Amino acid sequence: MKFARRIENLPPYLFVEISKKIAEKKAKGEEVISFAIGDPDIPTPPHIIEKLCQSAHDPSNHRYPESDSLPELRRAVAEWYQKRFDVSFDPGKEVLPLLGAKEGIAHIAFCFIDPGDVVLVPDPGYPVYSIGTMLAGGTSYFLPLKKEKDFLPDLDSIPDGVLKKARLLWMNYPNNPTGAVASLDFFRKVVKFADRHDLLVCHDGPYTEVAFDGYQPVSFMQAEGARERGVEFHSFSKSYNMTGWRIGMVVGNATMIGALKTLKSNIDSGIPQAIQYAAIEALTGSQDCISEHNVVYQKRRDLVMETLDRIGLEATAPKASLYIWAKIPAGYTSVEFTADLLEQVGVAVTPGVGYGQNGEGYVRLSLTIPDALLVKGLSQITGWRNTQR
Ligand SMILES: Cc1ncc(COP(=O)(O)O)c(C=O)c1O
Repeated sequence: MKFARRIENLPPYLFVEISKKIAEKKAKGEEVISFAIGDPDIPTPPHIIEKLCQSAHDPSNHRYPESDSLPELRRAVAEWYQKRFDVSFDPGKEVLPLLGAKEGIAHIAFCFIDPGDVVLVPDPGYPVYSIGTMLAGGTSYFLPLKKEKDFLPDLDSIPDGVLKKARLLWMNYPNNPTGAVASLDFFRKVVKFADRHDLLVCHDGPYTEVAFDGYQPVSFMQAEGARERGVEFHSFSKSYNMTGWRIGMVVGNATMIGALKTLKSNIDSGIPQAIQYAAIEALTGSQDCISEHNVVYQKRRDLVMETLDRIGLEATAPKASLYIWAKIPAGYTSVEFTADLLEQVGVAVTPGVGYGQNGEGYVRLSLTIPDALLVKGLSQITGWRNTQR
């Protein structure tokens, strides 16, 4: 069968490959403890599920939803941003719910990128920024995220020739996979840079609610002028443990959101309405679940950090996100390290190179693993590492 070139050039999605390897081991009856995927193990809070069940019984939610979702949901998103970040949005023009942030992230490239256009993409980074770019015929110019720069891109190092062709800049803080955070001052600098070089900015912020030690991540949309330059993708997945329900949102520049709405109305037919009602409940109901989840994740973060420290793997304790970005010992590639760990003690972590060339030398551990398994997994990692020294 002849495939379209865009499919031939498409690498297998990182997590599909990891899940396949884990499934192969499990099929042989072997236990695998997975720190590999950022998929919350804590269930969706009961009041949200209750709303979903009630809404599923209502026949008016059995029909096609509107492409731009229920006005009540767009209003709830705007009110949540107002309360959480003190930024106001017009729910009619500046808010668009999505079938998960991933879908919107991939699709926005089709609204703004033509063949020959360059997109500035963080490396390491969530793979969908560059894959969306590639599917739209654009070229990614990778911005290295280095520890010595606090995993922030060095915008001043981008060559003029690249900037002339660049249309759009991707950013993601709190960051996957490094766990780094950005300040409002950094976002202000990004807006000025985008103004100077006429760039659109897409900020991806699904981890703003997963934070520790009292730290409160900021939104890109809080930076003055951000609305003129860009949008922010967000999600219910990590804030409310709703990865399985597939719902997210984008807020910000009305023209960019209008373009995405036009594209999407030709591709999908909206978000199941019962799930939209569950999302409204998530945003407007009690927010206690967020701090309760963060207590659990923070304890796990501390356990992982203690273990890494003890076995001599360098990492910085993240202030936010679900991830620990650990430096691996010299003599290994991240793929070799990951493969040995899985093969020899049945523990899965993600190889840093899966997030880009600058991820080489690191692995990512996700905190979305039940406490007992986390402790067992850490003990297996410790035992394995001790056999090597
Ligand atoms: C940085 C980043 N953006 C977007 C997503 C996707 O979120 P959603 O579940 O809403 O599609 C993820 C999921 O892991 C992510 O890490």
